[in-house]
Amino acid sequence: MVQVLKGNIVQAPALGELQITEQGYLVMEDGVIRGVYDRLPLEYATAPLVDYGQALVMQSFADMHLHAPQYPMLGMGMDLPLLEWLDTYTFPTEARFADTDYARRIYRRLATDLITNGTTRVCMFSSLHTDATWILMEELERAGVTGYVGKVNMDRNGLPGVLQETTEESIRETLRWLEGCHFDHVKPILTPRFTPSCTDELMAALGRLAQEKGLYVQSHLSENLGEIQWVKELHPDCQQYWETYAKYGLWTSRTVMAHCVWSDERERQAMKDAGVTVVHCADSNQNICSGVAPVRAMLNEGVKVALGSDIAGGDHLHMFDVVAASIRASKARRMMDDWSTPFLTVAEGWYLATSAGEEFFGEQPGFAAGNSLHAIVLADDTLPQPRTLTPAERLERAVYRRQEGAVQAVWSAGRKIYAKP
Ligand code: GUN
Ligand code: FE
Repeated sequence: MVQVLKGNIVQAPALGELQITEQGYLVMEDGVIRGVYDRLPLEYATAPLVDYGQALVMQSFADMHLHAPQYPMLGMGMDLPLLEWLDTYTFPTEARFADTDYARRIYRRLATDLITNGTTRVCMFSSLHTDATWILMEELERAGVTGYVGKVNMDRNGLPGVLQETTEESIRETLRWLEGCHFDHVKPILTPRFTPSCTDELMAALGRLAQEKGLYVQSHLSENLGEIQWVKELHPDCQQYWETYAKYGLWTSRTVMAHCVWSDERERQAMKDAGVTVVHCADSNQNICSGVAPVRAMLNEGVKVALGSDIAGGDHLHMFDVVAASIRASKARRMMDDWSTPFLTVAEGWYLATSAGEEFFGEQPGFAAGNSLHAIVLADDTLPQPRTLTPAERLERAVYRRQEGAVQAVWSAGRKIYAKP
């Protein structure tokens, strides 16, 4: 079936480029985009049309790194560095997801929070619990969120008896979990938490599984200096952190690595060569004092970069806020160490939060023909205005001054999944 959306259509077809079609027409057939037009082609003249008036019809967000079981601890433990924060706050919080009723309640709320704020694609960590991970996947599917979810693997340096598996258990549960993943829009991704959490034996087993089944992989890389030092001690044979993943076949174009704050030229070259996607988590990197990632260098070098909220290292789930945090982080880097490095513009930040993530799911940037429709409809802002704002200015204000309830409607994988009551 052909359907038409009319409004001020905003898309990011390339890094730094905003394409705006005022009072344009977005045409889709069976949920797949046919094109964006200034004038409605005659062949679609009789198709059902939804007129969103002056609202912005924009690409929805892809949150490429977040921890679902940390949703209840947003904004907690923010005075601690990574490794202490994990032991003190994170692991005990994740341990609660052994309780499936609790998991259901929290994950239902998380799924609604994602959708009502315009995130329709995710690359997400669950906890190590198989049952709670299925529940998470069910709740995302039910709400209309699409993407990848991973049951976490951790067989060392967790909380023994509370949040840690044996190696055998971790492998067995991962296989059981994969067997039970039959969701249309939410797919499994292998998730070794990070090198300090996984024995060599577990990493090797996961690497074999990734290869055999062609699975995607997500983990953490070079986030914090203490962590990097620890990894060096655990793998004296590896010159750099990334090699601890590469060694086991976990470093391919189907890999996403969160943070990469301290990745130097050599590590970045390894990302580029393998086609690994970096997920920049500016909010989290600032909160737990990990550092400021060299995003501009990565982009210049042709490394793939997308954005993640990394809740609850990040304290903002909403991707408008995450875009603003990324822009501010790039400005901090410019001010502190190199005034010749351009900061991220609003258009660039928004591209990274939308099109860059889209690419990981095999789609073309922007509202390209052939993409499945992932869109949000954004009402005009209700703040005092100095004059009538252009659509680009309205997007900028949404980034810097996200307003509760501004998302009017959401489309995900071609389905209208939310309309503001
Ligand atoms: N490294 C290993 N686990 C985590 C986590 O839960 N959050 C962050 N930010 N880094 C990690
Ligand atoms: Fe993380």
